[in-house]
Amino acid sequence: MSAVEAPPATGVRLREVRKTFSRRRRPGRVALDGVSLDVAPGEFLCLLGPSGCGKSTLLNILAGFTPADSGEVQVGGRPVEGPGHERGVLFQTPNLFPWLTTWQNVLYGPKARGALTADVRDEAAELLETVGLADARDAYPHELSGGMRHRAAFARVLINHPGVLLMDEPFGALDAITRAGMQRFLLELWQRRRTTIVFVTHDVEEAALLGDRVCVLSAPPGGTKAVLDIGLPRPRSYEDTDTLAFVNAKRGIREVLER
Ligand SMILES: Nc1ncnc2c1ncn2[C@@H]1O[C@H](COP(=O)(O)OP(=O)(O)OP(=O)(O)O)[C@@H](O)[C@H]1O
Ligand SMILES: [Mg+2]
Repeated sequence: MSAVEAPPATGVRLREVRKTFSRRRRPGRVALDGVSLDVAPGEFLCLLGPSGCGKSTLLNILAGFTPADSGEVQVGGRPVEGPGHERGVLFQTPNLFPWLTTWQNVLYGPKARGALTADVRDEAAELLETVGLADARDAYPHELSGGMRHRAAFARVLINHPGVLLMDEPFGALDAITRAGMQRFLLELWQRRRTTIVFVTHDVEEAALLGDRVCVLSAPPGGTKAVLDIGLPRPRSYEDTDTLAFVNAKRGIREVLER
């Protein structure tokens, strides 16, 4: 499959998902108190809510890093039982291996699975072109800028053709200009590939710019407070953030967050 061809998009289904973290000799901390949510194949869903409401916990459950205590967690119609490369995970800090070059980082997954073919190498080259890192293929992570590291991490995930991308405040640590560049990059990528995305953010503007819908979790312990349709036309760009429709969308999200 070519790097620009869309992978099969995958739906997500959560029903009454609960998670309590146990604490020695003290009552456990309830992180998720019955979250139910559906994300359609190809949908871009933003997850928003106050600090500590369980956004990262929910993403880790979807990624298969943390098991839920109860409830139903399905990706692509199958229960999540552990991590899998069909679910691409991107964190706030790009988790590249510092001892590997950009090229080696991107090929790490296929190599680890024994799936490193000439086609995969061609695709990696094409992907690096797509993310604007063709000239940085032999650079190590410490030689890349923050934005370049994020794009390398993207390429590393995309080579696995994930049906869903799980992103936990991926641009939270970037300066405003790099962040706007990464948002543009992500929107263009999604427009082309239509991979299902679950995107955690603190930022109301980012949620309105990126999301088809925004799921607002309630104050800790998290449950679904509301799911809002953004309804702004696509394709979107950063320039749209000045429009009245965009300002209204932001206001709608903020009202739900504050109530
Ligand atoms: N591994 C863990 N062990 C114990 N408690 C945890 C663990 N991970 C999360 N928690 C607790 O679960 C709750 C939800 O945490 P989580 O990190 O999911 O919140 P969040 O919504 O991502 O917050 P933030 O916006 O600050 O990133 C918090 O009370 C946190 O202390
Ligand atoms: Mg978090």
